[in-house]
This record gives sequence, C-alpha cells and structure tokens, in this order.
Amino acid sequence: MQVITIAMQKGGVGKSTLARSLAVAAVRDGLSVLMIDMDSQQSVSQWAERREGDMPVVVFSTENELPKKLAQAKGAADLVIIDTPPARSTEAPAAVEVADLVLIPTTPDVEPLEQMPRTLRLCRGFSRRVFAVVNMANPTGPAEVAYTREVIEAMGAKMAPVVLHRRKAHRDASASGQTVQEVDPNGKAAAEVANLWAWVRAELQGSK
Ligand SMILES: Nc1ncnc2c1ncn2[C@@H]1O[C@H](COP(=O)(O)OP(=O)(O)O)[C@@H](O)[C@H]1O
Ligand SMILES: [Mg+2]
Repeated sequence: MQVITIAMQKGGVGKSTLARSLAVAAVRDGLSVLMIDMDSQQSVSQWAERREGDMPVVVFSTENELPKKLAQAKGAADLVIIDTPPARSTEAPAAVEVADLVLIPTTPDVEPLEQMPRTLRLCRGFSRRVFAVVNMANPTGPAEVAYTREVIEAMGAKMAPVVLHRRKAHRDASASGQTVQEVDPNGKAAAEVANLWAWVRAELQGSK
C-alpha cells in the first residue's frame, strides 16, 4: 500500500479536484483506492455523496484517527490518497509524514507560489518525492508555465512534468460527483489527467 498526500496551504488551487481525479484514474487502472478526506470542509466526502457507485472509497479522518485509518486500509487498499485542508493545519503535517509521494498543487499565480515555501517546509526530509503540480494554467499561455517552473525550481522544489490547464470539464464533473475522465473521456482535461496519472504511477513504482 502506498500513500499520496495532496497538500498546499493556499485554498482553491485544486487540491480536492486533483485528489479525486487521481483516485478515479487509479481505480480505472485496477487499483483498490481509499481516499482519506482530512479537510473539515469535506469537499471530497460531499463529492462522494453526489457520486453514484462506491469507488473510490472515501472516509473522513482527523490527524488523531489517521494511524488507525491507515492500519485498517493495509491489506485492503493498494493506494491511499489523502486530501488536506488549506491554511495552517495539524492535518497537513500528519498527512505529509505518512506519504510516499507529496503533490503540491499550485496555480501559476503569485499568491499560491508565495505560499509554497510554507508547504515545502512541511515536507523537509521528503525531498525526493515532493512535486509541485501546476493546475489551472491558461490553455493559451505556455509562457506562464515556463515562468512558474523557474519560480518553483528557484525554491529548490521540483515540478511534475505534466501540467493541468484550466478546463471547464473539471467543474462540470464535480457537480455530478465525477471526474473529467468520466464526463468527458475524450477531452483535453481527461488526457492531461491520464498523463499525470501515468507519471504518478511511475513515481510510486520508483519509491517501492
Ligand atoms: N484544472 C482546472 N480547471 C478548471 N477548474 C478547476 C481546475 N481544477 C480545479 N478547478 C475548480 O477550482 C475550484 C477549486 O478547486 P478545489 O479542488 O476545491 O481546490 P482546493 O481543494 O485546493 O481548495 C473548484 O470549483 C474546482 O472545480
Ligand atoms: Mg479542498
């Protein structure tokens, strides 16, 4: 069993959306996936309630309950994906501590990029498997991705090779408790998620 934690102190950068997209990609790849929602706003849990079907399994957890939830998942789940709250929290450090891979979503904007060092500090000692994931990039503006990469690398962090652009399908999918792979399987957003998942899966295999 491996654990991916999605963390970023800035809200609205796409943490929960990314967690759900990767979870569904993993389920479709044949993995048994448990999502642990550690955000008291429960946007993953609510998404699961809107969703038809019971995969991926979603449970809510505080940081105190996390070790027990992970122990219960051992043997049953191949992959655990943990979504964390924004702002300074006790949940995010606990979730980072148990992760094999930490993903830090950010939009290519100054506000989340300014917050990123705080989130990176939580990940000290994890440097090999921590990646920023650029989300909601402007589909017609490759220059901003290049600039964002420079800013991220100047912080001593690494950026995932796959970028997710701003695409309406993500919002549409959320409304029906789905993900872009399900509402628009042939669309650009689904292709980006598929590429990101392929890279994540290879990263996880490398850390076994
Ligand atoms: N790549 C994207 N393109 C367009 N909208 C997106 C994208 N990723 C996320 N969103 C939307 O942005 C909003 C915030 O995303 P969310 O995942 O809830 O962020 P966070 O969990 O970091 O607060 C949601 O309405 C979501 O549907
Ligand atoms: Mg969220």
